[in-house]
Amino acid sequence: TDLPALLAAMPKAELHIHIEGSLEPELMFQLARRNGVTLPYASVEDLRKAYAFSNLQSFLDIYYAGASVLLHEQDFHDMAWAYLQRARHDNVLRAEIFFDPQTHTARGVSMETVMGGLHRACTDAKNLGVDAELILCFLRHLSEQEAFETLEAALPLRDRFIGVGLDSSEVGHPPEKFARVFARCRELGLHLVAHAGEEGPPEYVWSALDVLKVERIDHGVQSARDPALMQRLAQDRIPLTVCPLSNLKLRVFPDLAQHNLRALLDAGLVATVNSDDPAYFGGYINANFLQTFAATGLDVRHAYQLARNSFEGSFAQASAKRRYI
Ligand code: HPA
Ligand code: ZN
Repeated sequence: TDLPALLAAMPKAELHIHIEGSLEPELMFQLARRNGVTLPYASVEDLRKAYAFSNLQSFLDIYYAGASVLLHEQDFHDMAWAYLQRARHDNVLRAEIFFDPQTHTARGVSMETVMGGLHRACTDAKNLGVDAELILCFLRHLSEQEAFETLEAALPLRDRFIGVGLDSSEVGHPPEKFARVFARCRELGLHLVAHAGEEGPPEYVWSALDVLKVERIDHGVQSARDPALMQRLAQDRIPLTVCPLSNLKLRVFPDLAQHNLRALLDAGLVATVNSDDPAYFGGYINANFLQTFAATGLDVRHAYQLARNSFEGSFAQASAKRRYI
């Protein structure tokens, strides 16, 4: 079989994509012009040159600055629509899309503007054959109080998102900081996920599970350092939304050949492959599959396993999941 062709063509779900991280430099400059925003870069090439990261924080600084061009509902729509077309191209049938409202509300952009544009793109995506839903992420470098205020602002639009997540600077901001926010979200019937074990220690994965009670772990690659945690993740079939090119660009692993995706799969974990912030890390979901398989020698059985894991790990309706798998 032609493995690259199989990887590209196989149906898949994407469970870890930050919509602000899908904003390509070309669209960023287009929106800057449309909105009269001045970017601190002279050109698309100049901006791309700045995409040389040494860790998570060095990326986040540039990622938040890039979002400053997003002002109007149409801007959020256009960004999400561009991603959804890419997703269709990569045969993504289900996309669970993160967004960071605090990055926008802090600049005076309303929750209605943000979610209005993103949700309209998700609705339009039905015509592409992509089933897309939104997950609201709290910025963990901000306070519990600010997270509660963000939740309050979003609740009038409760039918436009299926869950909440936790992202931004991980080390120094453990999951416990948001215990009460997640408890409230759980009462509201929202799905729960959190970034944990990207740069942070296995302890953060434990507390995401036991304190926040999340259903999935975003990244989670540091779990491999803790055998008892690996056993827990395998036993409870907790999906890990792994993002290999992100891990490479943020230097979580020195090169793709050293990535532990294969070890996670071989340990029986429900690991999945995702793009995280494709405009910044140099590849959408199929590029993540192709480059990781080429570098680590994963085979056709791993390909099927990862495709099945992506649908099993998704929050799609059980009936839809059965159809996908
Ligand atoms: N980690 C934490 N926060 C993020 C990421 C990430 O990989 N991408 C966008 N926000
Ligand atoms: Zn992420």
